[in-house]
Amino acid sequence: MPAVTRRDYTGPADLRAMQSLAQRIWSKSSSLHVGDLAWQRFQHAGREAEWPTVLWEAGGEVVAWGWVSLPGELALLVDPARPELASEVLAWFEDTASAAELAVTVLDAEEHVVAALERRGYALGQSPVFHSYMSRLLVDLPEPVVPGGFTVRSVGPDDLARRVSVHRTVWHPSRVTEPSYRAVMAAWPYRAGLDWVVEAPDGRFAAQCLIWLDERNGVGELEPVGTLPEFRRAGLARAVCLAALRSAHHAGAREAVVYPVLNHPKSAGALPLYRDLGFRPYARTLTFTRTRRRIPPFPESASPEGAHRRT
Ligand SMILES: CC(C)(COP(=O)(O)OP(=O)(O)OC[C@H]1O[C@@H](n2cnc3c(N)ncnc32)[C@H](O)[C@@H]1OP(=O)(O)O)[C@@H](O)C(=O)NCCC(=O)NCCS
Repeated sequence: MPAVTRRDYTGPADLRAMQSLAQRIWSKSSSLHVGDLAWQRFQHAGREAEWPTVLWEAGGEVVAWGWVSLPGELALLVDPARPELASEVLAWFEDTASAAELAVTVLDAEEHVVAALERRGYALGQSPVFHSYMSRLLVDLPEPVVPGGFTVRSVGPDDLARRVSVHRTVWHPSRVTEPSYRAVMAAWPYRAGLDWVVEAPDGRFAAQCLIWLDERNGVGELEPVGTLPEFRRAGLARAVCLAALRSAHHAGAREAVVYPVLNHPKSAGALPLYRDLGFRPYARTLTFTRTRRRIPPFPESASPEGAHRRT
């Protein structure tokens, strides 16, 4: 096997490299869709200093990566063909984090990562909040239906302000801004033709559904989805999601996935909505926690830049 080298994340081209691993190992037991990665990295601007990120490469391709959210959370992806790298990513995380309590979220089906976590002394956390991973084959998709005066369509070049506005109202208080959404739109594999909205009679966007397409695996991912509070339970999310799913199918997707948060007060409607749309759960996230052995020399509040620079 080719030797493994390690390097720091340097910018958007490296996100593309991290996405290439997600795409190469895509299966029902891998935790990340390429669209999820783009959305998570670009939806908020100015957070790079909070996010130490390292890539492991072998033979010209990414075989593992770790993405820390300081002070103490880790997201990681490890090629199941190189399971030994899971421990290396965890060791780097333990050295990089500044919190006393470390948290790592993985998919229950990622057995090679779960095994490494258990070997390094992490235990399953008790939080009731987790992500359900749901999927649906893109067959028998009904036509979207909206109430009179509403229209369902994909976004155009002049829609940025209204597109950001519907997101910010749904997720208030939200850190998504026009510049950060522009970065989302510039990220691979965003396509405006897969970014769907319902326009209300007064011109506002009342609901939205963005679907990301992984062309290689024929899988679309819904992220995010929302309806303005005053328009809820009128079938708008159902309609805008159906329009997005149909457009992804037209563009080559055979299947779609969505990762709703469960037991979170902001997302109470998500699970029933996706069930109504025909999605069924196939996996869930687990959060493992552990106390950090080496405590940083200064309390974080006394030395914030120190915490950010430790890589
Ligand atoms: C989840 C959300 C998008 C639903 O939008 P909506 O436009 O109200 O949904 P719809 O009216 O199209 O609902 C379609 C079906 O989903 C189910 N559903 C939707 N919201 C529900 C809720 N709060 N409780 C129970 N069932 C619900 C119902 O089966 C509904 O059909 P019905 O009204 O005929 O019974 C909206 O509540 C929202 O924006 N929430 C905050 C953001 C969020 O959680 N987004 C999803 C995760 S990314």
